[in-house]
Amino acid sequence: MAQFTLPQNSKIDKSAGKTFKAPAGAKKVKAFKIYRYDPETGANPRVDTYEIDMAACGPMVLDALIKIKNEVDATLTFRRSCREGICGSCAMNIDGTNTLACIKPCDEIKGDAKVYPLPHMPVVKDLVPDLTHFYAQLASIEPWLKTDTPAPTRERLQSEEDRAKLDGLYECILCACCSTSCPSYWWNSDRYLGPAILLQAYRWLVDSRDEATGERLDALEDPFKLYRCHTIMNCSKTCPKGLNPAKAIAETKKMLVERVV
Ligand code: SF4
Ligand code: SF4
Ligand code: FES
Repeated sequence: MAQFTLPQNSKIDKSAGKTFKAPAGAKKVKAFKIYRYDPETGANPRVDTYEIDMAACGPMVLDALIKIKNEVDATLTFRRSCREGICGSCAMNIDGTNTLACIKPCDEIKGDAKVYPLPHMPVVKDLVPDLTHFYAQLASIEPWLKTDTPAPTRERLQSEEDRAKLDGLYECILCACCSTSCPSYWWNSDRYLGPAILLQAYRWLVDSRDEATGERLDALEDPFKLYRCHTIMNCSKTCPKGLNPAKAIAETKKMLVERVV
């Protein structure tokens, strides 16, 4: 699976962290304590401290990370793209919570800002988790419209009521914040699909245009893929888009119970 497999919780070398002091004359200093790991060095992870003048920095954690990379330490590695909470690339653990760095205001963090990669994932480098397995799990639920009936000359129509059933599901940006906050996923991610992928699966189960509902339910009826969810609810608490994967999982279980065999 992953090319680099040192997990985030490998022993951090506390003596190896470096501190980059704020520039002289800085007016509003905030320290960012950032997880660093480079598999090519073979060294244990460390935590570096960067003192940033927030008077000369944008408001979000991603702004601070970009400032650090541009002006202080070009070796710092992280993912980002849209910088407006749409692409899901900048998901990381900030101040103990999985969230998106681009929409997390630095002002909301009391004291030093602790920035780590998403928990319990292999780390490619610094704040970049290896999502290979996560994406393979997404592919396994076949997240596309499946139909047997011939395609209409125009689009497949949906009533307003049926379209509304996709609300709270289509907004998922697959950031993986929920899955990596789920204890069941931490310990069983080899077989448990986790909340993000199960929310995606439910999105196709309730799509009135999809004609593979029975086949999709068959694929989920498995002691590990679905039933490792123990309704701990971390997933719904952490979702930066305000979605409720735990509810989607509960609805899927209900569909399985209620379906006519
Ligand atoms: S449900 Fe929320 S936390 Fe989970 S992947 Fe989708 S957007 Fe991210
Ligand atoms: S409700 Fe289920 S999926 Fe969500 S955190 Fe709990 S065990 Fe994981
Ligand atoms: S950069 Fe796209 S969600 Fe943060």
